Amino acid sequence: MQSDNDDAIWPDVLARAPHAASALPLYAPLLDGPVVLGRIAQTLDSKIATTNGASFWISGPADIRHTHRLRALFDAVVVGAGTIRADDPLLTTRLCAGPSPVRVVLDTERSLGTAYRVFTDGPPTLLACAADRASETHGSAQVISLPRAGRGLDLTALLAALRARGLARVFIEGGGVTVSRFLAAGVLDRLHVTIAPLLLGDGVPAFTLPGVARPQDGLRLDWTLHRLGADILLDIPLTPARA
Ligand SMILES: NC(=O)c1ccc[n+]([C@@H]2O[C@H](COP(=O)([O-])OP(=O)(O)OC[C@H]3O[C@@H](n4cnc5c(N)ncnc54)[C@H](OP(=O)(O)O)[C@@H]3O)[C@@H](O)[C@H]2O)c1
Repeated sequence: MQSDNDDAIWPDVLARAPHAASALPLYAPLLDGPVVLGRIAQTLDSKIATTNGASFWISGPADIRHTHRLRALFDAVVVGAGTIRADDPLLTTRLCAGPSPVRVVLDTERSLGTAYRVFTDGPPTLLACAADRASETHGSAQVISLPRAGRGLDLTALLAALRARGLARVFIEGGGVTVSRFLAAGVLDRLHVTIAPLLLGDGVPAFTLPGVARPQDGLRLDWTLHRLGADILLDIPLTPARA
């Protein structure tokens, strides 16, 4: 049975991502207000790329389309410097209807060159780096200057800076280091983990988190399982630590 709220949501989903009808339960939690979603596509042995950084294609076409739907549904898409270096992605919405998000690149030391496609083509890009490495622009990107936190940037400050620009719905697309840092900082509302029936033996790890001594000290999660072609997608709600 639909509530009044559902009536408002469903046409919006269908208008923005028309191929999503069969998976509304997966997308509905993402439509209501500010949300920070992390996403990983990994192999059965928890790799997101081969040792030389190749990640096309870990998951199948249905998961790639799912990623484009997420881009269409979010204000901003965030990736780490490692993903820009390995893939030189455009991060635009191409495989479904809908707008492209603002692109946000995390690069603490501002070590990336300016020739990558996010800095030359397509929708607006923001480059987030440490305050002591900042300037006004980086290629065509605007620079967000942030405090350092541990080995990276202060992610609470990043999300506040994005909210101040009207970007409250934030999709963390990868890679593993970046999604792990958001998870460790306690600022994710949700995780989508796609698992492909593939073994690579070695490669770039999905999650890199501090180890624990006993299984009961680990982060135990709840999940709902969805089929995405030959892959499975685990939809994992989290309780963010932020206010
Ligand atoms: N299968 C998938 O879902 C998927 C998705 C995306 C990418 N990939 C693949 O994954 C690989 C890259 O992943 P990765 O884990 O090695 O790297 P990554 O997460 O893309 O980038 C890591 C780098 O991003 C910067 N960074 C990330 N979080 C930060 C934070 N909180 N504060 C400041 N800087 C931050 C840091 O750069 P500095 O060290 O320079 O400061 C860090 O070393 C590539 O091979 C790519 O093809 C796979």
